[in-house]
Amino acid sequence: MNKHTDIRILAIESSCDETAAAVVVDGRDVRSNIISSQISLHTIYGGVVPEIASRKHIEKINQVIKEALKEAQMALDDIDAIAVTYGPGLVGALLVGVAEAKAISYAKKLPLIGVHHIEGHICANYIENPDLEPPFLCLVVSGGHTHLVNVLGYNSYEILGRTLDDAAGEAFDKVARAIGLGYPGGPKIEKEAHKGDQKAIPFPRAHVAGDAYNFSFSGMKSAVLNYLNNCRMKGIEVVQADVAASFQQAVIDVLTGNVERALKETGAKKFAIAGGVASNATLRKAMEQLCMGRGAAFYHPSPVFCTDNAAMIGVAAYYDYLEGKFSGLDLNAVPNLKLGER
Ligand code: KG4
Ligand code: ZN
Repeated sequence: MNKHTDIRILAIESSCDETAAAVVVDGRDVRSNIISSQISLHTIYGGVVPEIASRKHIEKINQVIKEALKEAQMALDDIDAIAVTYGPGLVGALLVGVAEAKAISYAKKLPLIGVHHIEGHICANYIENPDLEPPFLCLVVSGGHTHLVNVLGYNSYEILGRTLDDAAGEAFDKVARAIGLGYPGGPKIEKEAHKGDQKAIPFPRAHVAGDAYNFSFSGMKSAVLNYLNNCRMKGIEVVQADVAASFQQAVIDVLTGNVERALKETGAKKFAIAGGVASNATLRKAMEQLCMGRGAAFYHPSPVFCTDNAAMIGVAAYYDYLEGKFSGLDLNAVPNLKLGER
């Protein structure tokens, strides 16, 4: 177990509505990345239904793992460790992945590595950027999290700021529902925004007083709802594309505002984005321009590695493997696991 090259990790991710498995070699070489999305199942309910998610994970997980091994042209006997997301996320959904990983670990006598979902999102940046190494600044923007993180080392994170209420992705999802675009909101708002005017409606840019790096999105969501109500009452026609473009720009301004301050105050020369919202092309462009203006290198994963996937879990697990950080068979799902906690 003290070999450090050609480490083959089978990773499992089931924290929300994607059942995913991947094989990653030496932390950066993704040999397979299988994702079974449940989006169509949850669309009719307008969001993820936890019970349905758990049940679907149970149905899909073995098949997804089989496919991941097949695509990587490996068998379980070729694998060196099993990694799994154990938090944060939906408890029933997490438990399916955790139970599966523990069963494989026990049956095949393989080391088990419990991975923090947000660490996984951050580590997704290593996959396509072989030159990227800590320290760097990272903005994690997903459906459940908005964190500005100082990545001090492969296993060392300092949270500079976080959302005080809704996550950025959650705000996208709620606004999309309110303007009739449906679930999942982020990609639908992005598409609609292309047709609209980002300056049409002056939605507020919420800045949290005193806490330079914290975020608040619920006020922005309420501003959109108030705008829609107001239009309805006054019989003004709502231009969906203008609402989408104006809201998206307001979120981007708030995110770039905090990142700019952090780049300035920490002097960081490397900045990365991660999480589902990081697949938003307008946000990426804004961050790229910001970094260019400040002489900082900008990193981002491809969209498939931004939204939930198991490859990112395999990458994060590799750095735990190198440090000998293994989990016991008593590993449990921790729905509200904090970053940096074990
Ligand atoms: O990282 P992720 O797949 O799951 C969580 O860990 O939460 O992120 C999903 C979130 C959803 O809220 C979705 O609406 C948002 O990411 N999202 C986007 C885009 N694609 C996904 N938000 C804005 N623009 C996008 N293109
Ligand atoms: Zn995620």
